[in-house]
Amino acid sequence: MAADEKGHQSLVGQPMDRVDGVLKVTGGARYAAELELPGLVHAVLVECPVARGTLTALDTRAAERAPGVLAVLTRKNVPPLPVPTTPPSGDSTPLLDWTLNYSGQVVAVVVASTLEQAEHAAALVKADVDAERPELDLEQRLDTGFVPNSSFRPGEQTRGNVEQGLSGAAVKIDAVYRTPTEHHNPMEPHATVAAWDGDRLTVYDATQGVTNTAQNLCELFGLAREDVRVVDPFVGGGFGCKGQSWPHTPLTALAAKVVKRPVKCALSRRQMFFTVGHRPQTRQANLLAARRDGTLVALRHDAHNQTSRLDEFLEPTGAAPSMLYACDNVSVRHHLVRLDLSPPTYMRAPGEASGNFGLETAMDELAVALVMDPVELRLKNHADVDPSTGHPFSSKSLKACYAKGAEAFGWAKRDPRPGVRREGHWLVGTGMATASYPANFRPAAACAVMYADGSVRVSCGTQDLGTGTYTILTQVAADAVGVPASKVRVELGDSRLPTAPTSGGSCSATSAGSAVLLACRTLRSRVLQYLTSDEGSPLFNVKATELETRDGVVSLRGDPSKKTSYADILGRWGKRQVEQEAFAEPGRERGRPFGAPQGTEPADKGKSAEYTMHGFGAQFCEVKVDVDLGTVRVTRWTSAFALGKVLNEKTLTSQLRGGIVWGLGMALEEETLVDPTTGRFVNTTLSEYHVPVNADVPPIEVLLVDEQDELVSPLGAKGAGEIGITGAVAAIGNAIFHATGQRLRDLPFTLEKVLGPQVT
Ligand code: MOS
Repeated sequence: MAADEKGHQSLVGQPMDRVDGVLKVTGGARYAAELELPGLVHAVLVECPVARGTLTALDTRAAERAPGVLAVLTRKNVPPLPVPTTPPSGDSTPLLDWTLNYSGQVVAVVVASTLEQAEHAAALVKADVDAERPELDLEQRLDTGFVPNSSFRPGEQTRGNVEQGLSGAAVKIDAVYRTPTEHHNPMEPHATVAAWDGDRLTVYDATQGVTNTAQNLCELFGLAREDVRVVDPFVGGGFGCKGQSWPHTPLTALAAKVVKRPVKCALSRRQMFFTVGHRPQTRQANLLAARRDGTLVALRHDAHNQTSRLDEFLEPTGAAPSMLYACDNVSVRHHLVRLDLSPPTYMRAPGEASGNFGLETAMDELAVALVMDPVELRLKNHADVDPSTGHPFSSKSLKACYAKGAEAFGWAKRDPRPGVRREGHWLVGTGMATASYPANFRPAAACAVMYADGSVRVSCGTQDLGTGTYTILTQVAADAVGVPASKVRVELGDSRLPTAPTSGGSCSATSAGSAVLLACRTLRSRVLQYLTSDEGSPLFNVKATELETRDGVVSLRGDPSKKTSYADILGRWGKRQVEQEAFAEPGRERGRPFGAPQGTEPADKGKSAEYTMHGFGAQFCEVKVDVDLGTVRVTRWTSAFALGKVLNEKTLTSQLRGGIVWGLGMALEEETLVDPTTGRFVNTTLSEYHVPVNADVPPIEVLLVDEQDELVSPLGAKGAGEIGITGAVAAIGNAIFHATGQRLRDLPFTLEKVLGPQVT
């Protein structure tokens, strides 16, 4: 096993295989929908067929008489439950209501002995509706745009004076960029299994946050926190749509209460389009102006995004424009437009992916207008400090990312002229863009236990979305204690475990990882302290700093003959187990490197305590565009990212590659269409809502830039779940421009848009 310079083992960083890999490929990993319980029955949701109106009658008689039916829940027989405050639910209506706010809203729940019986009966429920004409067109409703009440409006600011900046500009880009409604489509659809034991509720739920889901259920059913348990050991992807609680989860719990049996509700792929959120459509008006030498002198981002009748959801497209480049004159504004569509939600790199697309496309247009290399333009406007706050970055290695990515891709050989490279019937082009995403670190707790045999159990109320959380936490714990990975067992996905945040905002590795690190470090110290204070031990009175810990063996640095094992220490101590909890939170350690001795804080701690924590990267790609068909093939990809400490090179680069594949889908394929009459999403299958398949994806080279960041978190790692998609979309569009001379600003870049001017 590899060791660091102090003799401690270093599994962290190594491309270790997933510890849950065998369970996953053998079907041993059970997902929420697969759970079976004695007496389990099935619930099916009945959806409202119109986007706006009132339910005038709901005839459930036929459904109630159908074979196997145990209950039909409607607003007639279910009292309104309170609207939960945590997490802020996208759908703030009572669970079952007469008022109809979006197509697909749940109007009834049918519970039956088998899934087939429930589906059959659900089809027999007859709804009479007084339908109104829905508002569904963002562009037509721009004049109704309003500023959300929430203070959560990332990037929104005015600094300097845009008009004044414009007066000094030689070149100006002023254009509108559009992103469509998109759906998350994780491999695992949402599912809930709910079981009551008296007044205690256990819920197996496909969720990105067991704690949030438990909290939500406590509020709805008026239960004490200890009486609700939410379990989710394996998640088949979330991407944001499992980041909050949606109506099917409490409705399943309600159904289980009514029929006094455990109830399962598994959403179909089609239902995944209606009641569990989507990325809202956006319209971004960007203005960029620069001096002849490329210096940005004005930047304006004026955005509108769809929200529903029920919420005020902001897609924070302005976050990136406000801070990605140095510019003295900046204005960033967001507006919401209410449409009769279901509540939107966060979707992988919310705001950052969509806002980056508009900004990084505009930057490419600016580079073209200036006749300047796009990398050079970005270097020219590199933000050495966070321009939106003036705060320094805890670390920023973006310049190294440009250099490393450009070198590996062969960017220097690029002929900047658009539309001049041709291979048979393919036009060839290359493009690049900057990737960026905040390094979020949220409070988290974890527990580490060492047993008599020297093995370690780590528990944390985070969840593994399929990204490798079990694996990286195994590595972190193994190293922090000094035991082999095979001696570490990690338990996650249970709201009874120490509280950790919802796995969103790319925060889990950093947050849960820091808590696990602190718990394991303290556990190690306690055990070593016993050892060095034990007169009978060969290491009596040795300073802890002189001890090496590897593979479960503790030895004296420089004299490996003086050694003992963790199992021996616990044996001599007479301990069956030693348990240690720890809590990690941001802020405490800001202002001095984490772990540095007290007293090394800069004098003005209040001010110096503020850093911007952010990950960065650079994306480079090549596309080929079919001259006759407009088909776009992405043929080559190189990216470089700097994300602090690498915990597992394999799962990290896999996360980033997955993000880039998402970028490919966002650029070329993904778009949910709305029926203009009924307000229903229409392409609600994976044969009609296209996501990339293997044949769409070229080999993706992901390079990592070394980056030390002792401020970002005790662990030193930045999250990687979302940054991969950022920059990827614009890089593809910029490459299409380079290939064809055709500038595309409306996602996705489907072939009729690529062919556009040639056919008109
Ligand atoms: Mo991510 S969209 O913050 O789950």
